[in-house]
Amino acid sequence: MQQSIPRPALAFQVTHSLAESPAVALLGARQVGKTTLARQIAASWSGPATIFDLEVATDREALSRTPARLLGRREGLVVIDEVQRLPQLFEALRPVCDDPDRRAVFLLLGSASWDLVKGVSESLAGRILFVDANGLSLAEVAAPSLDRLWMRGGFPRAYLAPSAVVWSRWMESFSRTFLERDIAGLGSSVSPAALARFWRMLAHVHGQTWNASRLARSMDADARTVNRYRDLLEGAFMIRVLRPWFANLGKRLVKSPKVYLRDSGILHFLLGLEDSHELAVHPSYGASWEGFALEQTLIAHGQRDAYFYGTQRGAELDLLLLRHGRCWGFEFKCTEAPRTTKSMRIVTKDLELEHLWVVYPGEREFPLAEGITALPLTQIEHVELRAQA
Ligand SMILES: Nc1ncnc2c1ncn2[C@@H]1O[C@H](COP(=O)(O)OP(=O)(O)O)[C@@H](O)[C@H]1O
Ligand SMILES: [Mg+2]
Repeated sequence: MQQSIPRPALAFQVTHSLAESPAVALLGARQVGKTTLARQIAASWSGPATIFDLEVATDREALSRTPARLLGRREGLVVIDEVQRLPQLFEALRPVCDDPDRRAVFLLLGSASWDLVKGVSESLAGRILFVDANGLSLAEVAAPSLDRLWMRGGFPRAYLAPSAVVWSRWMESFSRTFLERDIAGLGSSVSPAALARFWRMLAHVHGQTWNASRLARSMDADARTVNRYRDLLEGAFMIRVLRPWFANLGKRLVKSPKVYLRDSGILHFLLGLEDSHELAVHPSYGASWEGFALEQTLIAHGQRDAYFYGTQRGAELDLLLLRHGRCWGFEFKCTEAPRTTKSMRIVTKDLELEHLWVVYPGEREFPLAEGITALPLTQIEHVELRAQA
């Protein structure tokens, strides 16, 4: 039997949200484990539970013909999987959610961001809570598995693959299905071959500031097309577009976003890397750490209000989180002995950071300077983003 990794924090977020709202959307990339988690929640639900899968033609047809009748009188938990396949459903769900005699809650699973599915946000505004379905986190796999999670990435099947060969075969098949089938399922007419080239190119500019015209030139396309590809991959949760923070400082700031492949395993697969030894000597080693540590930080502390900061003169902060009215900084350094830099001091002052963590792959937490601490990535979930009283 396949090993199953418990995801108690994610399950708690979903059930907690279901207690507070008539509808909850669990959104994330294909294959991160949404259906598995929803089935586990349904299995332990203390009442009736129904699952519809819109990837199954009969479910899709039934729900598109008589949605009000099928959903209106339900009790208990109703899961609707791959909900982006039937955007009309959201209109039908609105009166069901508003019905004062409602006896059901709805868990919607989706592999596309709401921005890609037209008209959704308006129909359920104020009635729905969102939960991010991420790849596996360090907390879920436990600290000793950091290298494996970093190398293999957080898709459960990729992480659990019994060998590097099986991992690489899984990646191959995942990316083919994603490009040839899933993207088309989002209603996009982009050619899989063009998107595949674009995706591969992104691996080489992972973590760099976005330069549409440069990518367009190498793709023999225009900047608009390249931006459309980017939006598509972002909406399918495959890439992270980190927006720049504009403080009103009168400084000349970097204005383009930074783009990362969200899953480190996908990055390594696209770069042709098969194990940690190959990664350690690859020019993208540092960028890979930065992206991996960034995603883990966002899993632990939420992805809203997240930015990077950069001045034209070269001072930079990898991640700025705005939490509880304060600015918190993170630098991701793939080194055994993190140190402070001039850039860190400038950024701390510019942004009036409450604290700056220099997140590294080591094992010891220690102060680097006033307001700056070296932090092992394995400790990231324990960081408190609240000002001390
Ligand atoms: N917590 C987990 N532990 C082990 N394997 C998992 C876990 N969650 C998902 N998987 C496996 O990963 C694959 C994708 O999971 P699935 O729930 O279908 O993802 P999604 O619905 O997000 O596409 C399946 O083969 C599933 O068995
Ligand atoms: Mg699924």
